[in-house]
Amino acid sequence: MRGSIAVVHGVNLDQLGRRDPKVYGSFTLSELETAISGFARELEVDVAFWQTNHEGEFCETLHLAHERSAGLVLNPGAWTHYSYAIRDALEVSGLPAVEVHISDVDGREQWRRKSVIRDLCVGHVEGEGKDGYRRALEILRAELAP
Ligand code: DQA
Repeated sequence: MRGSIAVVHGVNLDQLGRRDPKVYGSFTLSELETAISGFARELEVDVAFWQTNHEGEFCETLHLAHERSAGLVLNPGAWTHYSYAIRDALEVSGLPAVEVHISDVDGREQWRRKSVIRDLCVGHVEGEGKDGYRRALEILRAELAP
C-alpha cells in the first residue's frame, strides 16, 4: 500500500477517559492510539496521529494532509454534525477518507444522526469502540491497494 494513513481526531476526543464510559468506554486517547498502532502493525499500514480542539487547525491539517498521507481516518467529534468548513477542507484534501465514531451516533440524539462529511467518505464505521478503527484501516487499505 502506498503512503501512510493520518488518523485525525477532532474536538473533545482528547477527553476520552473522562467522557461517559457507557457511551465511549473508559479508555484514554493515548490508549486508543496504542490500540490503533497495534491494528496498523497487524494490517501492515503506517499511521500518524493528530488531534485538535480547534476547527481551523483541523481544516489546516486536512489542507496539508496530501503532503504526507495517502488516506485519512477521521473522527471529527461533534463537528461531524455541522461543520461545512471541515467538509470543504476534506474535499480540498482530495484524499480517500473513512469517517469513524466510537459511539453509535445513529442510535443517539437526533442531531447526531446527521453527518456533513459522510457522502465524501469511502466508508463509515460507528458504534464499535476502539475496534471501529481497525475496520476503518481495513477499508482504507483496500481502497489504496495498488
Ligand atoms: C463521536 C460522536 C459525536 O457525536 C460526539 O460529538 C463526539 C464523539 C464518537 O466518536 O462517537 O465527540 O464522534
